[in-house]
Amino acid sequence: MTLPKHIAIIMDGNGRWATEKGLSRSEGHLAGANTVELIIKECLRYTIPHLSLYAFSTENWKRPKEEVTYLFELFCQFVEKELPLMQKEGIRFTMVGDKTKLPEPARISLENAISQTKDGKKLELTLAINYSGTQELLYASRQSAIKILSDPQNLQKIQSIAQDTNALTQYFTTLFNEENYTEELFRSSLYLPALPDPDLIIRTSGELRLSNFYLLQAAYSEFYFTQTYWPDFSQKDFEQALQAYSQRKRRFGKIEKKSNQ
Ligand code: FPP
Repeated sequence: MTLPKHIAIIMDGNGRWATEKGLSRSEGHLAGANTVELIIKECLRYTIPHLSLYAFSTENWKRPKEEVTYLFELFCQFVEKELPLMQKEGIRFTMVGDKTKLPEPARISLENAISQTKDGKKLELTLAINYSGTQELLYASRQSAIKILSDPQNLQKIQSIAQDTNALTQYFTTLFNEENYTEELFRSSLYLPALPDPDLIIRTSGELRLSNFYLLQAAYSEFYFTQTYWPDFSQKDFEQALQAYSQRKRRFGKIEKKSNQ
């Protein structure tokens, strides 16, 4: 079976799962955390090297304050509880999203887990927290521009022609043309430049949307949607997603491709 190297999951349906059982939304998220643990173990078992989990979008701040507070407590508890397993199993914990706006205790706890697991080689586990694909693209475009403009050679040239508006405009046009402002430069400015694009994106709970997740990185991802709510997503569901992926013919815009890679 051809396995994906990077699986990204939109973990959806915690709230509906809880409501249908007469439980609170927090209980749904807590049950969702158990599924996270299960899927991490499955990735280790299948030796899948990258797993991304969409845990909190920039839009999720619009939820009731108690739910947001609970989610951040849950993320911290989870990361602290899983730290020994991560270290033992060679998991490298990473994050995508705007860390600067996180509640201070959560930021400290997450950054601690990042530094404590930085040598993990078996599985890179990436949590998307306070993440928006649109914001990541804006961030990368700003960083790319800064990289170009702060290059000492370019700065020197800009200083030398600073009084000549026409020459400046022409120089900027050259600096930002296709040869200088490249896809490579842009990608090097993403949150995690070394993370390969996801081969497979799974979304649970029957919704058929990307919801601002990995907009650029999803360009050639295969999608797998299931009706199952995230807390019910099982080992069997995971295997079905892998089976479905292994049947896909990935052509990446080309006409013919024999294998899946
Ligand atoms: C979407 O379901 C889920 C979230 C916004 C939160 C994801 C969080 C978890 C899975 C909890 C554990 C995570 C970690 C990393 C420990 P929803 O609440 O939008 O469900 P609904 O659409 O049914 O209301």
